[in-house]
Amino acid sequence: MDRDATIRGLTNAVRGPVHAAPEAIERYSRDASHLSCRPLAAVQPLDPDDVVALVGWARRSRTPLVPRGAGSSLDGESVPVPGSVVVDMSGWNAILGVDPEDRTARVGPGLVNLELHRALRPYGLFFPPNPGSWTVSTLGGNVATNASGPRSYRYGPTRAWVRGLELVLGTGERLRCGRPVRKRSVGPELAGLFVGSEGTLGIFTELTLGLAPAPERRVGLVLRLADPGSVSAAATTLRAGGDLRLSSLELLDARCTTELARLSSGRIAPGAPTLLVEVETTQAQEGVLLERFLEVSRGLGLREEPGVYPDADELWTLRGRSSEALDRAFGPRVREDVAVPVSRLSELLALVERLARERGVEAFVYGHIGEASLHPNFGAAPGSALGEQLRHELLDGVLALGGTISSEHGIGLVKRAWVEAELGPVATSLLSAWKRACDPDGILNPGKLYPVDSGASPPPVPSPSGPEAGRTPTR
Ligand code: LAC
Ligand code: ZN
Repeated sequence: MDRDATIRGLTNAVRGPVHAAPEAIERYSRDASHLSCRPLAAVQPLDPDDVVALVGWARRSRTPLVPRGAGSSLDGESVPVPGSVVVDMSGWNAILGVDPEDRTARVGPGLVNLELHRALRPYGLFFPPNPGSWTVSTLGGNVATNASGPRSYRYGPTRAWVRGLELVLGTGERLRCGRPVRKRSVGPELAGLFVGSEGTLGIFTELTLGLAPAPERRVGLVLRLADPGSVSAAATTLRAGGDLRLSSLELLDARCTTELARLSSGRIAPGAPTLLVEVETTQAQEGVLLERFLEVSRGLGLREEPGVYPDADELWTLRGRSSEALDRAFGPRVREDVAVPVSRLSELLALVERLARERGVEAFVYGHIGEASLHPNFGAAPGSALGEQLRHELLDGVLALGGTISSEHGIGLVKRAWVEAELGPVATSLLSAWKRACDPDGILNPGKLYPVDSGASPPPVPSPSGPEAGRTPTR
């Protein structure tokens, strides 16, 4: 269908506003990856019935829909595909209810993660997943990619905190999964099968999220290590200190530290590998705990006493700007997101170093070292032969270490080719069957997540891997 016919059909089918002006098309054409592609239009459905009407129209007209929250996805999860309509859910940002006794919050999928965090303070509760993008990313997007962040070290990823979902499937049916009960044994829990689905199975219309009691005090600590060789051992020592009550254990290598230091108003010093840590405590116990922490950290070969961030939230907001800091300094580069079993952490660090040396490029590493979930970056343009070769060798190496090709960003357009290598043929075919059951016409975010020839995105949906319509580096 051509553009004008699409906009006419869409406007007739849906009550919410339709956007097709050049500035809107430009704004919706990219996420935080290096990819971009112009959609035909964008729409903001008003309510679940409007989403049902939208999906019905998309099925009839065979128009791909690309659901979107803040557009902060890093691997093309929310980049439009050719001929598509973006479904902007960012306006669905209401807090529909907080139940302090059940420790749940019902929210619209467009609510920004940090907004929920702020709104929960008076209740003494918090939503634990805090991705680096928490100042902008939406909870619907967090669920759609199973995002995590520093606090997953103690609390686990978003998956662990989804208590229920309401969504409109690609069939146009409304589905409600989960119940606000502490436990349930009524078959496999379906809600979990939509976590990490990247908008390919349904469009979320409401989320019920689990909450945790907020600790009385959260203190951030900044540890400057003497040299890169001590990183792995320092992480292992801190992980082993069960009495330290760490809720986060993060790494910035020396280059990342230097770049982030520029944004830190002097709170972080440049030039040395740095561990960022969060401890949870009470006012009464804080002194004793910090003393104990200092005692352990003296054995780690620190350059100086740890710096203290009395409000750890501020530290995580700063830390979440790492990618931006590297963008400023180094421009386009391969930005990866992998995890290995924690016992193989030093092998992962060695792999990154070896690949950079062999290919003659710079490498930077930061991320969630307490979980051996790291973001290796290579100084080569994504999409270039060298950049993709490095990605390929890294992901193959990670799989050989028993690790995963994505620990928290998702698959999107960038990593489809490795999905089957990680999951194996049986799981891949089950996943594709689930996609076909939820979205028989393949209209929801086609060309993402599933391996290229899995049959989960049947024709005539245009494939973004075709004429490389959107694959122009944007930075
Ligand atoms: C972070 C994001 C990129 O850890 O996952 O900063
Ligand atoms: Zn991360």
